[in-house]
Amino acid sequence: MSKTNLFDLDGKIAFVSGASRGIGEAIAKLLAQQGAHVIVSSRKIDGCQAVADAIIAEGGKATAIACHIGEMEQIQGVFAQIREQFGRLDILVNNAATNPQFCNVLDTDLSAFQKTVDVNIRGYYFMSIEGGKLMKQNGGGSIINVASINGVTPGEFQGIYSVTKAAVISMTKVFAKECAQFGIRCNALLPGLTDTKFASALVKNDSILNTALQRIPLKRVAEPSEMAGAVLYLASNASSYTTGVALNVDGGFLA
Ligand SMILES: NC(=O)c1ccc[n+]([C@@H]2O[C@H](COP(=O)([O-])OP(=O)(O)OC[C@H]3O[C@@H](n4cnc5c(N)ncnc54)[C@H](OP(=O)(O)O)[C@@H]3O)[C@@H](O)[C@H]2O)c1
Repeated sequence: MSKTNLFDLDGKIAFVSGASRGIGEAIAKLLAQQGAHVIVSSRKIDGCQAVADAIIAEGGKATAIACHIGEMEQIQGVFAQIREQFGRLDILVNNAATNPQFCNVLDTDLSAFQKTVDVNIRGYYFMSIEGGKLMKQNGGGSIINVASINGVTPGEFQGIYSVTKAAVISMTKVFAKECAQFGIRCNALLPGLTDTKFASALVKNDSILNTALQRIPLKRVAEPSEMAGAVLYLASNASSYTTGVALNVDGGFLA
């Protein structure tokens, strides 16, 4: 019997935002292992270059490009570069997000509100528009939005962040419905608590961590690599009939 590999990404061009560390780095490395040429992106080029170099050292294909997804000109600039350098895009992983303020909702600061909306909603939205236009030219592609369990049930003291993650789940369904006709699928990943710099304030505080673990049936925090398999599924042909889905990878938290 001949083997088929539904997860093969040979010849695909993939862009991963926030790929210099954490969940994005794990996603970039797994997509590259499956054969994709991965564009490793975040605000600071040094961290991206280190991840791209590590991929290349393992025999994979990667290019580092800096892009602050909260800046519209940088979104336009990165897509101009992708068009010129690659001429196509098959997989877009919107992963980079921000959560600048932990506070009671009544204490929300306007600049933190604006930054969170600009990066987590406007950034994902216009990255998807630019990515979608490029995918449409080549007959389709897959957009994966990294949202959060907080988009379903808000995290304490994470008001506007949770609101933006709910918006990401909504925008996933919008793009899924309106871009299906162009061969573009769009799905969301909803990570639970994952051991990264982003979550260090929660994971490194024993009292917060123990409270969180009581609500996680698997009784542990996730490793970044445990998010990547779900993204590979959503990026590849294995999920060819899946669009508009919000996939919980949360150790059972939302159950
Ligand atoms: N960790 C968790 O427990 C958890 C749970 C649920 C959902 N999530 C989601 O998972 C995603 C990744 O989080 P993580 O935990 O892996 O975070 P992380 O380890 O802190 O990594 C964040 C990445 O995003 C980049 N970044 C930050 N702001 C950016 C911006 N404005 N434009 C472009 N890149 C930016 C960072 O690099 P630079 O500093 O170089 O820009 C870095 O590469 C986020 O969408 C987050 O909301 C995480």
